[in-house]
Amino acid sequence: MPKPLQCPAELLTLDLAGRTYVVTGGNSGIGFETVRQLVKQGAKVVLACRRVVEGEKAKQLILSEGPRGFIEVLELDLAHLESVRAFAKSILGSHNSIHGLVNNAGIMNTPKGKTRDGFELQLGTNHLGHYLLTELLLPALKNGAPSRVVNVSSCFHDKAFGREGKVDFDDLQFERKKYDGWEAYAQSKLANLLHAKHLAKRLIGTGITTASVHPGWVRSNLIKFSMPVWMQDTILKPVLKMAGMIEPWQGAQSSLYALLSPEAASRSGAYFSQVGIYRDKKSAKGGWPMESPNPNAHDSACAERLDSISRALVGLTP
Ligand SMILES: NC(=O)c1ccc[n+]([C@@H]2O[C@H](COP(=O)([O-])OP(=O)(O)OC[C@H]3O[C@@H](n4cnc5c(N)ncnc54)[C@H](OP(=O)(O)O)[C@@H]3O)[C@@H](O)[C@H]2O)c1
Repeated sequence: MPKPLQCPAELLTLDLAGRTYVVTGGNSGIGFETVRQLVKQGAKVVLACRRVVEGEKAKQLILSEGPRGFIEVLELDLAHLESVRAFAKSILGSHNSIHGLVNNAGIMNTPKGKTRDGFELQLGTNHLGHYLLTELLLPALKNGAPSRVVNVSSCFHDKAFGREGKVDFDDLQFERKKYDGWEAYAQSKLANLLHAKHLAKRLIGTGITTASVHPGWVRSNLIKFSMPVWMQDTILKPVLKMAGMIEPWQGAQSSLYALLSPEAASRSGAYFSQVGIYRDKKSAKGGWPMESPNPNAHDSACAERLDSISRALVGLTP
């Protein structure tokens, strides 16, 4: 098993005082560790979460460690566009500039379901909610430039248990074909990658750069629709660790690298991968940055088409 990549110490000791970041899904797993590190370095972080009580608990836990920075907990339900709009309005009302947006929240292999706006649940939550959020926060990101948008994708954008990641424009929302939870996850995670790639093009010259990342196979609550979390965290933990599962703080390393390294800023739109499970052996060791082995991840026409469809679906004018 390749060794997990680790963010260099000089990035994790940068002084982030005066900088503001938004991290979605900041109450749990990789998002929690991302918030924790940024606040430790003196940043102000808006911890976006759908369960405010859990967000407040996470805030107290982080603040009990005596970091230099600040945390503001704000409600955000990515599966409800009205909530995304209210969240963005609240941020724009109180923050003139943002230096980084980490589109981290996500769900995986859920049973068939729909968001409040009628989108397939995984595409709606993982991609469309974040798409709208990013668009609405662009003015503050422009004011904060140089600033960054980091999409937390997955190596499963490549293949998720045999399902190749592809954007099925003929049936994006599983309305005609049989629903498959892994296929829907792979599509949504490819959408995260393509979103970052196309946004990078659109934002040339603005000072905003983008990246997508694979955080690694991380012990977190994400597994809950596939296996009981308690089993992952107890009896199966030693076996899963031996098979390559890493801890959430290690899972945050790729996001932090994409957010803080000069290299990521100079490679806008690139994909940064922790060690991962890919179709080819060469990619398994990951890389910051790395070429995805999925040809669909390099399809610029598909990225552009996804951008305009997403725009229309979330109700933005062309
Ligand atoms: N863990 C892995 O092995 C792995 C591998 C590849 C990629 N990733 C990606 O990493 C990201 C973080 O996942 P994680 O592993 O840290 O899992 P996690 O512990 O389950 O965290 C996911 C976060 O997303 C939030 N969330 C889910 N639905 C939401 C919604 N509708 N609105 C707002 N927030 C919502 C969750 O909130 P609640 O606490 O309220 O549920 C939680 O805060 C995801 O995008 C995932 O796809 C993870």
